[in-house]
Amino acid sequence: MAADDLNDKLAALQRKMAELRSQLGTGASVPSAFTAPPSEARALSSTSLRAAAPSMPVSAPRATELLPPVPQGASDREPFVNWLIAAVRVRSGIAVEEQVRQKLQRITARLPLSELEKWLSILATVDSAHPEWLALLESLTNHETYFFRDMGQLEHLQRDVLAALVARERNKPSPTIAIWSAASSTGEELYSVAMLLLEELENIGEVDSDGPSIRAKARWRLRLLGSDLSRQAVRLANAGVYDGGAHASFRKFPQRFARFFETPEEGDPSFRRVRAGLRNGVAFQTFNLMDALPPIAACDVVLCRNVLIYFDADGKRAVWSLVHRALSPEGMALFGPTDVLEDKRFTPVWGSSTVLYRRV
Ligand SMILES: C[S@@+](CC[C@H](N)C(=O)[O-])C[C@H]1O[C@@H](n2cnc3c(N)ncnc32)[C@H](O)[C@@H]1O
Repeated sequence: MAADDLNDKLAALQRKMAELRSQLGTGASVPSAFTAPPSEARALSSTSLRAAAPSMPVSAPRATELLPPVPQGASDREPFVNWLIAAVRVRSGIAVEEQVRQKLQRITARLPLSELEKWLSILATVDSAHPEWLALLESLTNHETYFFRDMGQLEHLQRDVLAALVARERNKPSPTIAIWSAASSTGEELYSVAMLLLEELENIGEVDSDGPSIRAKARWRLRLLGSDLSRQAVRLANAGVYDGGAHASFRKFPQRFARFFETPEEGDPSFRRVRAGLRNGVAFQTFNLMDALPPIAACDVVLCRNVLIYFDADGKRAVWSLVHRALSPEGMALFGPTDVLEDKRFTPVWGSSTVLYRRV
């Protein structure tokens, strides 16, 4: 493709991303009137932007029959709102506190009763990967994230886990490391961990460089997967272009990692694009943490940070089980700094600035 075409695409992408980011911020996008996903979703899919994701077992969405029947012919919205609250909890694990209840009330208030009943009937018969569910759940969650969020945790991860994994694998013919960022939002978390891992590989001369862009030597089989419920967040993560503003993704960015980004030649000069060496080494896909099977197996590390706050006790237990399934024996899990894991299948491993959990 000619450079001009690429630049046009990038400028269009930046406009689209500004739009998507503002939608993510407002949380006011549903109901989506049963529309198909926009064509850009396909144009920006991970397969079109980079090599396909590593092969993974297919996940099994939660059964649709877990939902109660939709109220029929109700004369006010209350029964519908109550149905929606129960359904959201089943489909997403999101515990419906007052704020979420109010959002659901606002959403349902936009539709006449007959349309509302039809919409809920559709939600009742499709699984959580359906665009209607994705659009609804997207509007209820918060996508706040930035590069090197909770740096203390990540330094601990680099020093005590990533360095050990690299040392364990380096003398094997096909060194393999698998990392899953289980609620990756717009991707900053997984890219941060990938940069830390590349730093470790660089320390032992296991990277190749293509100009300023570095990547692991070809013999390394790195499986770095990010997943999120939100299609829009996954789309942005795969694009790997971020607003460089002071309050955005780079707000606590250690300058030594600036070399992993470039300034696009065209479009808004405040944006930064992840360089190909880093971008091609990771993949993002949609995935609901309430699904029965993880999208990746035999992980050395799973990050599940700043998402458990949404879930009630059952939802948290479901996520712990999922993380447990995704990890290889002895694999490490990293939760948010304030999350407490009460699950005997994990042992806490205390560090100076955080706690990691080892699968037993
Ligand atoms: C606050 S962000 C956390 C991002 C990142 N882990 C971090 O710590 O910076 C929470 C993310 O969890 C996602 N999420 C919420 N419920 C989910 C679910 N049931 N399955 C998958 N992702 C979910 C949201 O879409 C959102 O992007």
